[in-house]
Parts: sequence; C-alpha cells; structure tokens
Amino acid sequence: MTLSAEVLTAFARQILERMQVPPETAELVAVSLVEANLRGVDSHGLQLLPYYVEQIRIGNIRPAFHGQVLSENGACLLFDGERGVGQAVAAACCDHAIRLCAEHGMAMAVARESNHFGAAAFWSQRVAAAGYIGVALCNASALVAPWQGKQARFGTNPISMALPGPKTWLLDMATTTVAMNKVINASLSGRAEIPAGWAMDAEGTPTTDTATAIKGLLMPLGGYKGSGLAMMVEILCAVLSGGAMSTELGGVYNTTKPMRTSQTFLAIDVNRFLPRESFVERMEWLVAAVKSAAPAIGFGEVLVAGEPEWRAEEERRRNGIPLSAGAWKGLVEVAGTLGVPVPTASS
Ligand SMILES: NC(=O)c1ccc[n+]([C@@H]2O[C@H](COP(=O)([O-])OP(=O)(O)OC[C@H]3O[C@@H](n4cnc5c(N)ncnc54)[C@H](O)[C@@H]3O)[C@@H](O)[C@H]2O)c1
Repeated sequence: MTLSAEVLTAFARQILERMQVPPETAELVAVSLVEANLRGVDSHGLQLLPYYVEQIRIGNIRPAFHGQVLSENGACLLFDGERGVGQAVAAACCDHAIRLCAEHGMAMAVARESNHFGAAAFWSQRVAAAGYIGVALCNASALVAPWQGKQARFGTNPISMALPGPKTWLLDMATTTVAMNKVINASLSGRAEIPAGWAMDAEGTPTTDTATAIKGLLMPLGGYKGSGLAMMVEILCAVLSGGAMSTELGGVYNTTKPMRTSQTFLAIDVNRFLPRESFVERMEWLVAAVKSAAPAIGFGEVLVAGEPEWRAEEERRRNGIPLSAGAWKGLVEVAGTLGVPVPTASS
C-alpha cells in the first residue's frame, strides 16, 4: 500500500485520538512516525503504531501524563516522563534544552520514566531547527549481548546528531549493527534472511535467519567498541537520570512491564565558538572533502550520514510512502478494532 504522508499522518492521528491521546500529542506522534517513513527509516515509522496502541491499552504508556521538571540547575535539567507518551516527553525536553542553550550556550535535558520516542533523528533535528547542534540519545530494552556475552544487557541505544543550517550531515544510528525494528521490518516484509552481522541466536551463534534473530540477540556495532558506545549512552541517559538501567527496562514489544526508558537531549550553540556562517562554510568544505574520496570498487560515490535519508525523503514526498504488507495489515487491524476508517490508495 502506497499513501501520501498527509493521508498517513491523519490516519495515525485518528487512531491515537481514539486511544485517548490528546490531539496535540497524537499529531506529534503521527508526524514523528510518518517522518521516519518519509526518510526511508521504515523500521521506526508507522509499523510501530500498533505496538504503541497496545502499550497504551495495557497502561504502560499513559497518554494523560505529560511529565514534569524535577530539577533545573544552570544548563542542566532533569525530567520525569511519568510514563507518558515518549514523543511528548522528548518534545518537552528538547524545548527545555533549546531554552537553556539560548541562555548558557549549551544545555542538556535528561528524562527518566519515558516511553519509546521513535527515531532519534526527529529529536536532534528539532534542536537543530532551533539553530543549535542537537544530540539525542536513549537507552532501550535489553536485546543486545555485551561483547563476549550471550545474554542481553544493552538496548540498541541510538545516537543522533543534527546540525543547524543547510543539510550537510545528519547522523542517526543504533549502537548495534542495526536497530531491532529493522529485523522486525524484514519479517513484516516477508524476508526470511537478514544480512550477516546483524544478529545472533539465543546461544550467541551468529544467524541470518530472520525468525531466529527476532528470538535471539542483536550484535553490538563493531564488537567491543559497540558495547562501549552502548554503555556510554546508558550512562548519559539512565545512570545520570536515576532511571531504569539495562534489564530493568521493558520495551515497545514487551507487554510484561513498562518501558521506563531514559532520554538525553543536548543543545550546543555554535555561535559561542565561531560565527554560524563560518560553521556552515566549514561543514560544507568538510563534506565536500569527504565525498571527494575516490569510490571503492563496487560503489559509485562516497556518501555522508544523512544523504540516504534525504534522498529517500525527496522521492517519497513525490511518490508516496510504500508500506510493507505486514506493516499495513497491523495498521488496518488496529484501525478496525477502534472504528477508524482505513484510507485507500485514492484518498
Ligand atoms: N527509540 C529507540 O529506542 C531506538 C533504538 C535504536 C534505534 N533507533 C532508531 O533506529 C533507526 C535506524 O538505526 P540503524 O542504526 O538501524 O540505521 P542504519 O544502519 O541505516 O544507519 C543509519 C545511519 O547511517 C548513515 N548511512 C547509511 N548509509 C550510509 C552510507 N552509505 N554512507 C554514509 N552514511 C550512511 C545514515 O545516514 C544514518 O545516519 C534510527 O532512526 C535510530 O534512531 C531507535
């Protein structure tokens, strides 16, 4: 099924409103998920919505709670998400970081007791849109064995960094080879095999079988270095916030306990270091230098982070967002249970 971003956003918003999500938050969640689809990051797009609905239904996500500031000390802010909607918590924290950055030149807001916030890039870009370097991090349900281990202790703990000004570079990555939702996405798209290096079975043996990977473990990015990065994110999010750590977390696919994720948002004002125009010029020089490297055998060009998603977005804004059969089925089923009309290709 291929539909426009506008039609899908309205559809998602209606589903969330039927779940008693306040209209402004429903719009925010819908936009954040569709934005991931637009950027080609389908693993963090609308395929998540049925799981969010289930988390609301069982009380793990509490749409009526908006979170509250626990402390503000100079450029540092601590937030209790009160297990509200993850996107609402993230938006509040980004906006606090932006406010404090204007005053202090840099700022960090850290939330505990939050829920899944979708793709981290949505939040680093919210800070970048306000004119600052934005960094977004979160811990996530334990699906990753630490290097040399075979039991899950880390989440896929993503890191995103976005820059103010024109599109030059935008990093958004899990600290595993890929996010778990990419394995789920492979399953929903009917792909029985995933690339080598993504996952291990429950005994810690590498696998390319999608179904085995879903029941198994994700592999840390680049071996022990990925373990180190995941730990760094866990520290900056959960240790610092006083929130749930490692196996204490639930997850978006876990119905047995609340997610309780911690999220960290950093804003940095480049103007406190050098004029913004100079920063942009230097970024453009750097990107051009990186891209000027001769492509290796098998590749037509060198890309920098952000480029694949910007290209996907341009194409999908023009031609619509194709949803996999599995993702569409999940959305139609959920809409059916809530009495929300399902859009058609001619909508
Ligand atoms: N909320 C959560 O709990 C959670 C947890 C983990 C991941 N995520 C999200 O999952 C999404 C997917 O993460 P992932 O790590 O699987 O994505 P990925 O493996 O596709 O890596 C994405 C990053 O690599 C860059 N990239 C891709 N191809 C490139 C190339 N050829 N040259 C240079 N750079 C290139 C992209 O621009 C992007 O910055 C992200 O949006 C992330 O925030 C969310």
